[in-house]
Amino acid sequence: MSHAEAPLPDPREPFEIPRHVAIIMDGNGRWAAARGLPRGEGHRRGVEALRKTVRAAGELGISILTIFSFSAENWSRPASEIRDLMGLLRRFIRNDLVELHKSGVRVRVIGERSDLDPEIRKLLEEAEELTWYNNGLMLVVAFNYGARQEIARAAARVAVEVAAKRIEPSAVTAELLAQHLDAPDLPDPDLIIRTSGEQRLSNFLLWQAAYSELVFVPTYWPDFDRAALESAIAEFRRRERRFGGLAVQAGT
Ligand code: FPP
Repeated sequence: MSHAEAPLPDPREPFEIPRHVAIIMDGNGRWAAARGLPRGEGHRRGVEALRKTVRAAGELGISILTIFSFSAENWSRPASEIRDLMGLLRRFIRNDLVELHKSGVRVRVIGERSDLDPEIRKLLEEAEELTWYNNGLMLVVAFNYGARQEIARAAARVAVEVAAKRIEPSAVTAELLAQHLDAPDLPDPDLIIRTSGEQRLSNFLLWQAAYSELVFVPTYWPDFDRAALESAIAEFRRRERRFGGLAVQAGT
């Protein structure tokens, strides 16, 4: 085909593979209950699904993968389940960090750190420090995370600047507030996936999700894999993203 006959570029081309995918990994408990297993087994299988998904995300060319691994509201679960989840995080970092580092993954953590167990906090910081200069997939772990709390933290940081007279109240814009979120350098997620059939955001990335495409899949998280990720991306590609503007017409 000569250059003159080349088809017009698809206006959706830049979004073919979403740059930033965020996942609400839901349904571990129901996956376990459906098999007569303890909830902890669902979470353990959830970590396996996470390993597969991180690998697949890197292979598919996704730049940033954000995972909701422990919400600020999860503290209301029974103490034994919280112990299980903390144990899994510890083991995930201890066992998988070297492998993640070798494959060039950079780990970042968002969420409130000040009230975490010092040992967990140290592990999260070590993961960030060890992988800081990697330039493969960025894995953003939302831990002890709630979006309203994140927005309140950002507002408090801005308030400090205003009180110190470094910022005029009239200079407080959406952009300025966004610069005070937990990971202000990251682009908003293009695609947010929630597994298990629930259709809500549950206090996840409320600010950043303003123009994200939301894809809800019936699969319980432990059964999520590369094929499920690819099919969520295929659904994303069928969406038309307008960001509040008008549809892009081919040839305009
Ligand atoms: C939701 O399932 C999942 C969570 C609360 C936590 C997600 C955690 C993992 C995938 C494993 C831990 C990984 C790390 C890195 C800490 P649910 O318990 O709400 O399931 P249900 O809605 O069916 O009860």
